[in-house]
Amino acid sequence: MEVILAEHAGFCFGVQRAVDTVYEQIEKKKADGSLIYTFGPIIHNEEVVGDLQERGVRVLDSLADAGEVPKGKRGTVIIRSHGVEKAVCESLKEMGYEVVDATCPFVKRIHNIVEKESAAGKSIVIVGNAGHPEVEGIKGWSASATYVVESVEEAENLACSPGEELCIVSQTTFNYKKFQDVVEIFRERGYNGSVVNTVCNATEVRQAEARELAARVDVMIVIGGNHSSNTRKLYEICRQECEMTYYIQTLDDLHLKLPESVRLVGITAGASTPNNIIEEVQNYVRINF
Ligand code: F3S
Repeated sequence: MEVILAEHAGFCFGVQRAVDTVYEQIEKKKADGSLIYTFGPIIHNEEVVGDLQERGVRVLDSLADAGEVPKGKRGTVIIRSHGVEKAVCESLKEMGYEVVDATCPFVKRIHNIVEKESAAGKSIVIVGNAGHPEVEGIKGWSASATYVVESVEEAENLACSPGEELCIVSQTTFNYKKFQDVVEIFRERGYNGSVVNTVCNATEVRQAEARELAARVDVMIVIGGNHSSNTRKLYEICRQECEMTYYIQTLDDLHLKLPESVRLVGITAGASTPNNIIEEVQNYVRINF
């Protein structure tokens, strides 16, 4: 039986880079024993965060949290891939932390655009979810009026003045089609300004690849956390193409009884599933079937 692993299963480039940064910092700081923190959990995966905790990495949930750490224990803070507001970086430095910025370069690009365009006098429109840390971070790089809209209705009802020049960007994980629909509303409303497509295609690529793989195989295994919405979405996509699709969190959940006719097994994983779990599952299926 053959096992095929989707090329883009698991971490996207930005998350992988942020997780790698934490492990690199652990190695670097071993010698002088200085402490390492991440600003918010580096990734929504309990196993990874637990492993880092065992290696001494602590999570700071807010600036208030950072301020409570005694001065002598303020080591290195790693900014995760979502990025943070400019003021957060500055405050951390003022508190005496060394800041290591693992903001995904695609998110950093948005910060740079927003900083530049707002300084030039444009108002910023972020198409995305106002409560998402990435959007909060992007907002914090704007020096002018900043609006967050998540839907066509919100774009229709946004109270900005007709003469206002806008720069429209999007949250990286926003659906591209929905982004276009929102942009269209601003066009219809007659606003001037620029539109920068800042949607990252990592999610789309992972989903398209999962669909294509699921259509080819006899059995499909989707690995990811129970609460991971992007894993659930992957599962639904695969299930449409392949009836024998299994959703598991770790190898422990895998109780496969495969019929003799099964020749091809496909594996994919959600954006916060670490490589070692994917490898474990892959090896298990290879050896046991
Ligand atoms: Fe990942 Fe960066 Fe895209 S964190 S989803 S590669 S914007």
